[in-house]
Order: sequence, then C-alpha cells, then structure tokens
Amino acid sequence: MRVTVCCANTKIEPWLDGLRAALPGATIEAWQPGAPVADHAVVWAPPQQFLDEQAGLKGIFNIGAGVDALMKLRLPASARVVRLDDAGMSVQMAEFVCHAVIRHFRELDGYEADVAQGRWSYRKPRSRAEFPVGVMGLGVLGVRVARALRQFDFPVLGWSRSPKTIDGVECFAGPAQLDAFLVRTRILVCLLPLTPDTEGVMNRANLAKLQPGAYVINVARGAHLVDEDLIALLDNGHLAGAALDVFRTEPLPAEHPFWRHPKIAVTPHTSARTLRQESIAQIAAKMLAMERGEPVPGVVDPGRGY
Ligand SMILES: NC(=O)c1ccc[n+]([C@@H]2O[C@H](COP(=O)([O-])OP(=O)(O)OC[C@H]3O[C@@H](n4cnc5c(N)ncnc54)[C@H](OP(=O)(O)O)[C@@H]3O)[C@@H](O)[C@H]2O)c1
Repeated sequence: MRVTVCCANTKIEPWLDGLRAALPGATIEAWQPGAPVADHAVVWAPPQQFLDEQAGLKGIFNIGAGVDALMKLRLPASARVVRLDDAGMSVQMAEFVCHAVIRHFRELDGYEADVAQGRWSYRKPRSRAEFPVGVMGLGVLGVRVARALRQFDFPVLGWSRSPKTIDGVECFAGPAQLDAFLVRTRILVCLLPLTPDTEGVMNRANLAKLQPGAYVINVARGAHLVDEDLIALLDNGHLAGAALDVFRTEPLPAEHPFWRHPKIAVTPHTSARTLRQESIAQIAAKMLAMERGEPVPGVVDPGRGY
C-alpha cells in the first residue's frame, strides 16, 4: 500500500514518522509533483495539482474535522473523502465552549476589568434559566458540547439537519424549526460544517431572532458568520457580545474591526486542535478498514458537503 502525504502549513516529518510506525509495510512518502500515484492520501489544504496528479486515490484522509476547503476542489472520482471523527477534538471543544459560556454568564471579563483597576466589585448573581444555550450542529463535536453544558445546568437546545434525541437537550431540526430554536436561544454556539446550506447562517435576520442581550460563540468556520451583521447588532445593543475563534480570512487581518471591538473576544482558531498521535491512529485504522472493504466511519457525503 502506498500512502502520500500533502499537508500545507504542517510540519510533515512527524506525520510521516507516525504513519510509518502505524502502518508497517506501507510505503509512506511526502508528495512531490510527479510522484507515483498512491492508494491513499493524508491531506490538509492540498493544491489542485496534487489531486489532479493523484487521480487513482481510493481514500483522501483529511487531518481535520472540517472538509469545506477540500470539497471546493476537483477531487479524483475514485476517491472517498474521510474526515477526522473527534480524535481528541471533542473534549477540547467542550472545554473551550464551556469556558466561553461561563465567562460570559459569570461576567468574568467585567470582574477582570475591575480587578485591573484595583476595584473590589459586586455583581448580582444571574439566573442560568435565563441563559438557554443553543448549539447549532449536533454532530461529534456539538453533542459533546451540549452534554458538557448540561453538566453546568444550563438549559440546552440543539439544531441539526436530521431530528435527534439527546437526553436533557431540546432538539430542533431543519430549516422549518430554525426560528423556533433561535427565539429561545440566549447564547448561540455554532458547530456546523461549512456547506452551501450553512454559509452565512449567522446573518442579521437570524441573529436578530435571538433573545435580546444574546451572546454568539463561533467555533466552526468564519464564513458561517456575516461579519458586518454581527457588528451592527453588537453596536445597536441587541447582542451583548461574541467569542470568535474562526474567521473568513485567517490569520485575521490586522485592520479587521473584530480585533478592537470591545464586545468581541478573539482567539486564533485554537478551540480544538488536531492531535497528531490520536489522528494518526484513527487514520491508520480507517485506511486498513477501507483496504479490507469494511465500513469506514467519517466518510464525507459529497452531496451534503460534510
Ligand atoms: N475551530 C476549530 O478548531 C474546529 C475544530 C474542529 C472542527 N471545527 C468545525 O466544526 C464542524 C463540526 O464538526 P463535527 O465533527 O461535529 O461535524 P459532524 O459530526 O459532521 O456534525 C455536523 C452537524 O451539523 C449538522 N448540520 C449540517 N448541515 C446542516 C444544516 N444545513 N442544517 C442544520 N444542521 C446541519 C449535522 O446534522 P445531521 O446530524 O442531521 O447530519 C450534524 O449534526 C466542522 O465541520 C469544522 O468546520 C472547528
């Protein structure tokens, strides 16, 4: 079995070493233009030339959960695209989102600002019943996040494409139930894949349906959010704030207003990082399952785009 590795912005040697250890007997090589066609590819943001040359690939294993960038390219007809399922990301996402929710709910940013001024301040405790958290996307990451939030007794709502039943989470599904989900939500968490159906879902019309004083947490993809609509609703007071980890252009350009907006907390796409060891183990297991003709979890449906 021949495996080619083509990962942009990634230190590739440790991936090659890890894959060689996990797949003894396989030929594992870093891709170079003109390299022989492999059986499988391990990729992150590969160039179109790579996909055109590797026309006979059986599996394209993406070293992330989101495949939006890959699905915009022309893929070999023979290949199935496989994404990471969790691989250590869901616990990171749960801690990141719970931190953002709790930081907002407990007004910790306000306390920190007071402490920085040497001020011993008091704020009236808030009722968590008044802070229902709505999670858009109830997949591998969204479900873990929803369950973690329930541990802190927040009312939790969820929205997905197909109907779900999750203990303690009030579930909504499909475009017909989006408004009912939004009007009940005070803290919105986006964990959708980026597809033609979900791009711009956090636009002015939808954000305006959230409860007054709502807070927005985007940990999915920058293009889920219409940047200027968020700023307009923060500035007119409908929204209380936002925690943004992902952006339409990354790194976030120095002149972008998000950097300096007093109601926006920016983090540099760090909510759930790809963990190399866990990812290599998962990719190797899936590659071997594919070779044996067994079902492989996390195969992307090209029609849905995720
Ligand atoms: N910021 C970061 O560091 C980071 C790290 C990892 C991942 N991510 C992002 O997180 C996303 C989610 O990851 P995941 O592993 O949880 O994905 P997943 O398991 O594929 O789950 C996606 C969820 O979104 C729902 N969905 C998809 N299209 C929808 C639509 N049009 N309307 C309503 N719901 C829709 C799906 O509904 P069904 O259940 O009905 O299919 C599913 O519940 C990734 O695509 C990636 O972009 C970000």
